[in-house]
Amino acid sequence: MCAKRDAVTYGLTKSQENEMKPRIIITREVFDETVDYLKQHCDVRDNQADVPYTADTLAGALAGCDGLMCALTDRVDEALLVRCPGLKAVANIAVGYNNIDVPACTARGIKVTNTPGVLDDSTADLAFSLMLAAARRVTEVEAYIRKGDWTGWKLKQWLGVDVHHATLGIVGMGRIGQAIARRAAGFEMKVIYHNRTRLAADIEARVNATYAGMDELLAQADFVVLQMPYTPDTHHLIGQKQLAKMKPTAILINSTRGGVVDDAALIAALKNGTIRAAGLDVYENEPRLNPGFLELKNVVLVPHIGSSTEATRRAMAMTAARNLVAALSGQTPPNWVNPPARAT
Ligand code: DGY
Repeated sequence: MCAKRDAVTYGLTKSQENEMKPRIIITREVFDETVDYLKQHCDVRDNQADVPYTADTLAGALAGCDGLMCALTDRVDEALLVRCPGLKAVANIAVGYNNIDVPACTARGIKVTNTPGVLDDSTADLAFSLMLAAARRVTEVEAYIRKGDWTGWKLKQWLGVDVHHATLGIVGMGRIGQAIARRAAGFEMKVIYHNRTRLAADIEARVNATYAGMDELLAQADFVVLQMPYTPDTHHLIGQKQLAKMKPTAILINSTRGGVVDDAALIAALKNGTIRAAGLDVYENEPRLNPGFLELKNVVLVPHIGSSTEATRRAMAMTAARNLVAALSGQTPPNWVNPPARAT
């Protein structure tokens, strides 16, 4: 950024140089290379100790700041924005940005960015892990063997269901949904999908997926994978009524966001056999799980790790950092969620 070049030109001290740089806060621990990169361009307050901010301490810390690099655990809403009038950019370290009130940011001229693309494959891998684990009861049998209960092989022991050649129903066919469909080809699955907008014919052909109405998908799929964004429209998209439309042998996978599933309804459906099993990476009210899940054997539970491989999390953090630096230096951030509407 030009602030740094000017500082060298004019022989400024480190603290004078820092004063010329935009001030930013990173709300959570990130990788060292991300902090180093941001420090080249900004006056950074990091949080490598990962002590979570409360809404109040974040508002206090953000006063006088130009930029915020945050995570899905931070709420960026009107109540926060009103206390940070100097804020110019918010870079979320996630592709989903339901933690940010984007219209409120837009109204204040604050640029919002996210991290699409870099996490598609890792998240699709995790969705597949959940399908396989739920189908073959991996976590259930792992607990059994660790307890020392295994007395030997039996023909009818721990019977699961096949993933190969089954029908996969993907709800939400964006980049991650398509990455899941591509993986399904290796398992020779039949793929049907539902999406707000039907994909172009060439993309459907490439991922070998057939469009279906939501009810049709729920009725036909052996595995239903949810991969749409969480918005007011998708809140409780899967509740008691939708679960009742699924096959009693079906398995539900939620690898997108808590809130798209009504957790209480899902717990009831898993208990009474409305569906066979579920695999979940995300929950309502994370990290406080509905305790009903913990009593069930037919649900595989993992703690929101869809994108959590080292390479992907490093890429997400650097993507967010580059977005923030671009946004604060007057460039177009690569992943700008709320660009000004183009005049027609
Ligand atoms: C995302 O990018 O939205 C993920 O859920 C973050 O882990």
